Amino acid sequence: MEQTVFATGADKGLGRSLVARFLRAGFRVFAGKFTSGTNLEQLTNKFPEKLVIVPLDVTDMGIVRRAAGVVSEQAGALDILINNAGVLLEDTETPLERLDLTNHHLQQTMEVNAFGPLRVTQQFLPLLQKGQRKLIVNISSEAGSLADCQRQREYAYCMSKAALNMQSKILQNHLGPRGFKVLAIHPGWMQTDMGGSDADIHPDVAAEGIFELATRDWSPDGAIYLDYRGNRMRW
Ligand SMILES: NC(=O)c1ccc[n+]([C@@H]2O[C@H](COP(=O)([O-])OP(=O)(O)OC[C@H]3O[C@@H](n4cnc5c(N)ncnc54)[C@H](OP(=O)(O)O)[C@@H]3O)[C@@H](O)[C@H]2O)c1
Repeated sequence: MEQTVFATGADKGLGRSLVARFLRAGFRVFAGKFTSGTNLEQLTNKFPEKLVIVPLDVTDMGIVRRAAGVVSEQAGALDILINNAGVLLEDTETPLERLDLTNHHLQQTMEVNAFGPLRVTQQFLPLLQKGQRKLIVNISSEAGSLADCQRQREYAYCMSKAALNMQSKILQNHLGPRGFKVLAIHPGWMQTDMGGSDADIHPDVAAEGIFELATRDWSPDGAIYLDYRGNRMRW
């Protein structure tokens, strides 16, 4: 039977690499696309039957609901949800003393990185419940680890990913008994618009690791917070 995946923030960076990887594996891929970029065009031409582009702003409940409606109409169930969309809006060099706390970056970071995945997960739950894998992959970061935090800046981004980690744990507690598995994955430092060109790895490398993790058989009580190679991260 055809397997299905929905990924948010899918039109560039890691999201696009994930879309390409799952398409190559024969999945039907629903790609949540935020702005009007054309990065997915090549994949649409190559996989016209398998790729469905769905408009998505994870901060807008109505749009999230409509996206779930599209998947419901076209597939009726969902195997894997990947909450990938994320933003890094703040000036990462500025210390607290000079940080502008009146701009909207703080709120927007939490809205996209922490509350966005919660909205999407809530609306896609009925579809995941009918799916075979019942897997929710939250793309987190090492920036969300309290145990390994060395930073003295980047409050909003780090706080949003720590919140996403907590969300992942609560979700696993809640949904595990229903056969769900929740993962919070650090994708590595990637050469994307967010990670910059000096970063360690191409997003295709992270996507390969995440694909491998997402298509494994998981026990609900196993580890949740992992890097893209499957190494356990410290909360
Ligand atoms: N890059 C790294 O080194 C790194 C490290 C650790 C974790 N991560 C995490 O990995 C994920 C992917 O990062 P990336 O490097 O691929 O970032 P990216 O290249 O900046 O891509 C982010 C994606 O999120 C989308 N997006 C932004 N706001 C959105 C919204 N309100 N609703 C829906 N989609 C929205 C963007 O859409 P538009 O292009 O249309 O704006 C874009 O497709 C993020 O969660 C990030 O925090 C990245």
